[in-house]
Amino acid sequence: MEKRKKVTIPYLLEMKEKGELISFLTAYDYPTALIEDRAGIEMILVGDSAAMCLFGHRTTLPVTMDEMISITKGVTRATEYAFVVGDMPYMSYQSSHEEAIRNAGRFMGEAGVDAIKLEGGTRMAGVVKAIVNAGIPVMGHIGLTPQSYTQLGGFKSQGRDANTAMKLIDDALALEAAGAFSILLEAIPNEVGEIISERLDILTLGIGAGQACDGQLLIVHDLIGLFETFTPKFVKKYANVAAIMEQAFRDYRQDVRTRAFPQPEHYYPIPKDELAKLRDRLNKREE
Ligand code: KIV
Repeated sequence: MEKRKKVTIPYLLEMKEKGELISFLTAYDYPTALIEDRAGIEMILVGDSAAMCLFGHRTTLPVTMDEMISITKGVTRATEYAFVVGDMPYMSYQSSHEEAIRNAGRFMGEAGVDAIKLEGGTRMAGVVKAIVNAGIPVMGHIGLTPQSYTQLGGFKSQGRDANTAMKLIDDALALEAAGAFSILLEAIPNEVGEIISERLDILTLGIGAGQACDGQLLIVHDLIGLFETFTPKFVKKYANVAAIMEQAFRDYRQDVRTRAFPQPEHYYPIPKDELAKLRDRLNKREE
């Protein structure tokens, strides 16, 4: 297969310029990232949604920096094409700029990502600036920011009245001014996504933010039907992998119980003369 050039920020900006839309998916493991990369997905997010999709927590908050680094290494080992973004977990960037730079640096140095993402608008602009000044590209994230779900009153769509929509626009402008190379817009009206996208020179990526963004993100477990706890309104399900897996596991169990598996094609052969020798030795030993 022809070796493709790795996606970079200038390449993504060129796509925006040409009006070519960016496909962005989460991945939390080597095999998934390998398939996404092969499929030509331009951007991969190692999201802290791993806390829910991978580790079974009820929110994104419990996943740790060490866990994120560990799973991200699998993703970056798999990717030769896609631009990989590491998602800063809860409390890895909020307490001080130093802590934020150190953890963003771990994502770059230890896990090999191309950029990091963090949640929050205007109030995070200082942190974004500090990380960017340390030479690390930052993606902002506004709208429904799951790490603040208690403040937001749950996993709810945002910006659905003039006041909150205006706040989102100001947040986006503040992140751009702080040096973010892109902003993720989550669960906001299409019109608000459009107004923000029109006003920014940097990339806008949407997850439940309508058509006007420069690219679209989905959580891969939602897209393939592997996360069954709940499905947000913005998800389009392209497969039902959970059903395929369940059927495969049921078929396997049935085959084991009926000895339909394994069959001779799964056996390791031993030459007939070696088997004869073995039986001969055993007989002698057991005489
Ligand atoms: O962690 C993640 O996958 C995310 C998306 C929900 C936007 O941040």
